[in-house]
Amino acid sequence: MKKNVVLFSTLASFLLLFSCKEDKLVEVVEVPLPTKEEKISIGSPNDVKADPGSFEMTKLPFNYDGLAPDIRTLTLETHYSKHYLSYTNNFNKEIVSTEFENMPIEDILKKMDLNNAKLRQNAGGYYNHTLYFNILTPKEQTPKDTLAGSINKEFGSFNNLTNQFKAKSEKQFGSGWVWLVVDRYGKLQITTTENQDNPLMRNALIPGTPIMGIDLWEHAYYLDYQNRKGSYINAFYQHINWEKVNEYYVEALKKVKKV
Ligand SMILES: [Fe+2]
Repeated sequence: MKKNVVLFSTLASFLLLFSCKEDKLVEVVEVPLPTKEEKISIGSPNDVKADPGSFEMTKLPFNYDGLAPDIRTLTLETHYSKHYLSYTNNFNKEIVSTEFENMPIEDILKKMDLNNAKLRQNAGGYYNHTLYFNILTPKEQTPKDTLAGSINKEFGSFNNLTNQFKAKSEKQFGSGWVWLVVDRYGKLQITTTENQDNPLMRNALIPGTPIMGIDLWEHAYYLDYQNRKGSYINAFYQHINWEKVNEYYVEALKKVKKV
C-alpha cells in the first residue's frame, strides 16, 4: 500500500513537472503525505455498568461533553467511566459475604473499621463520587428555597459561602475533598477530608452529612488545568446543581431531627 502511494506520488510529481515545463513554470511544490492521526473515541455514560453487586453507579444525567469547555469531555469520561467505575466494582467486591453486603452506604461508612484500608478507600470512593456526579449540572444555578435561606442566615450571604468554600478548596493539600455538610446540630459547615475519606466516617473533624463536595484529586482536573487548581475550583462551582443540593439538605435536616 505504502509502495503504491510512493509510486503514485512520484508519478504525480513527474506529470506536474512535465506539464509545468510545457507551460514554462518552474515552481515545484512538495505535498507531504498524510500522517496517521490517533483518534480518541468518547463513549456514552449510559454504556457504563458496574459488575453485579450490592451498589450501582449513579446515572450521569448528561453526556460527557455536558460540562465542556469548563470540564472537558475526556476528563469527565475518564473520571466517570474509569475512576468511579473502579471504585464501585472494588467496593462491591470488598463487601461480598460480609455484614456490609445489605447495609445502606451511610451505615457502612459510619461502622467500618478504618484500619481496613481497602474497604475505607473504596467505600469512600464510591460514596464520594456518587455524590459528586449527582450534584453536577451543565447550566449555572444559584441556591433557592430552604437552602438559600439557611445559607443567608448562617454564612451571611451566598457570596460568603462561595468565598469560604473556594478558599478551603485552594488550601487543601494533596488528594482530598472539601464538603458542605449538615452537622449533628443541623448547622451548615464547610469541612475537608483527605484521600477518599468523608465526614460520615468516625475520624471526621466535623462529622456530618455531606450535601455537596468537590473532588480535589488531580484526576478530576489535571487534563484540563494542570497545576491551576483554582481554575478547576471555579469551573466546578459554575456547574453545581443547587436544586439537588437543596434536596440533600432537606433530607439531611430530617435525620438531624430524629436524633
Ligand atoms: Fe475522583
